[in-house]
Amino acid sequence: MFDRVAKNYDVANRAISMGMDKRWRREAIEILKPFRGGRYLDVGTGTGDLVFEILDQSANTLIDGIDPSERMLAIARDKAARRGEGDAVSFFAADALDLPQESDTFDGVVSGFCFRNIERRQKALEEARRVLKPGGLLVILEATYPESALIRFGYRCYRPLVPLIGRCLGGGSAYKYLMDSIEHFPKPDTVTDMFSAAGFSGVRRKSLTFGTVSIFSGKK
Ligand SMILES: C[S@@+](CC[C@H](N)C(=O)[O-])C[C@H]1O[C@@H](n2cnc3c(N)ncnc32)[C@H](O)[C@@H]1O
Repeated sequence: MFDRVAKNYDVANRAISMGMDKRWRREAIEILKPFRGGRYLDVGTGTGDLVFEILDQSANTLIDGIDPSERMLAIARDKAARRGEGDAVSFFAADALDLPQESDTFDGVVSGFCFRNIERRQKALEEARRVLKPGGLLVILEATYPESALIRFGYRCYRPLVPLIGRCLGGGSAYKYLMDSIEHFPKPDTVTDMFSAAGFSGVRRKSLTFGTVSIFSGKK
């Protein structure tokens, strides 16, 4: 499915989020606090926007971006080449459930709008923790179903527009899935409990844009 939507993914992202995704990514990476010389991993990197946000906030970092979708990765590699940052980043195919990197490798692991798509989420959290160095931070940016009844009403009014935007960009059913998957995603408290169960400490959730997006973080 992600191969199918790759070509127009960035345009759809900007349209569906009404341009807010850039700010959400910036806030997620501000929580990560990348530093010069640090090593980072972006799980489900897609077209690489979180990787580029890390580079914008901290030059001279080394970043792996992994994703099973080759078409998404091809776009991420093109963007890195255009930015002249091919040496700092490495985009390759891999699965969040079976990361190829050794244990205790990264200063930070991030993931944006990917976690929702994974069925065995607890296993994905354990894999992320395995590859983090002790003291390293996991930051997950994810769309969440708002808890306030008023915001839910607004959300339900907006919901039918998303598959319409998707259809205009050649990926209608994928964008219907996107909205369904947000509604089936566990509540924020359940996600923070899952972080704790995977062994993370100092687990936090930051709510953005009336709770429609959340940043979850925890330390190894
Ligand atoms: C909605 S896109 C998000 C892309 C990017 N992180 C962003 O912030 O725009 C979700 C991505 O997760 C990837 N994905 C789905 N299942 C995955 C898995 N098991 N392991 C790693 N990535 C996965 C998809 O291929 C897709 O590129």
